[in-house]
Amino acid sequence: MKKIDDARIDYGKFVLDDYRDDSIVTDRHIAEIYGIRGKNVFYLPRGEQAKTFACAQRLCKWFLRRRLGAGNRVVAVGGGSIGDVTGFACGIYKRGALRLLHVPTTVVAMVDSAIGGKTALDVDGVKNAVGNYFFADVLTDFSFLATLGDDQLLSGKGEILKYFMLCGDPDLVKRPLNEQIAFCADYKREVCLRDPYCEGERNKLNFGHTVAHAMELALGLPHGVAVANGIFYETSLAFRLGLCDANYAEHWRNLAKSLFDVYPFTEEMAESLLQDKKNVNGQIGFVLPAEFKPVLLDISRVKALLLQ
Ligand code: GLY
Repeated sequence: MKKIDDARIDYGKFVLDDYRDDSIVTDRHIAEIYGIRGKNVFYLPRGEQAKTFACAQRLCKWFLRRRLGAGNRVVAVGGGSIGDVTGFACGIYKRGALRLLHVPTTVVAMVDSAIGGKTALDVDGVKNAVGNYFFADVLTDFSFLATLGDDQLLSGKGEILKYFMLCGDPDLVKRPLNEQIAFCADYKREVCLRDPYCEGERNKLNFGHTVAHAMELALGLPHGVAVANGIFYETSLAFRLGLCDANYAEHWRNLAKSLFDVYPFTEEMAESLLQDKKNVNGQIGFVLPAEFKPVLLDISRVKALLLQ
């Protein structure tokens, strides 16, 4: 199994022919756009629907039928869901014997999900309830960006906003998109190199995600849009807890609001926080600015501070 130090991020052209000896995992929508076909291609359902045990099992069975073993390479071409399920299956198949290359096709996957080895499945409506770590190489091809719709590009900008806030530099938003993506991806890689298993510093990458997962579940928002909403509400929470000052909170809340629609945070969303992975002993786990350290709060306190 690859170690985090050996997992590379390369930038270049994805040429299908270079991977004819590998096993490619994608979905039919992506396959159609990029002309990916052949006996070495496995199709997962599109989006979050792929993140099930049933899909991971089907993928492992396909690996078996192809007699894959040590030294064989799997190539996951797609957004976060394709990467999550393929990474999960690679992590459990023959105890991690395969090699994996992520070829992210969305901004969210380029700056976040393809990097750092986290994998995930949803169980009983709980997002990312199950997962493992499987470190993989990444090939980022910026020409995929031209095929994304406005919604997908906007969603990516939610994750990018998170990184800009972590760095404390709002002017990064003025750089060309390719540069923003490379900056965020390299930033994440550095954090993961220092803390591969999320035991300390890597937790800060979860900023905005407690509220985001609740909003994704309740409203079906694209991930990055939900993260931008999470940034808005969790910054408010930090301010109300005295963790950041008013100028700081206003600045970042206004930036989030200028780029994204902000939706109301509801009682139902607050209840769903009780399932968050960062919770400890029934308390809700957040990572809050300005220091981006983990904070635990009772659900009653969260409701009092956010349902205003
Ligand atoms: N998406 C947060 C992390 O990879 O740690």
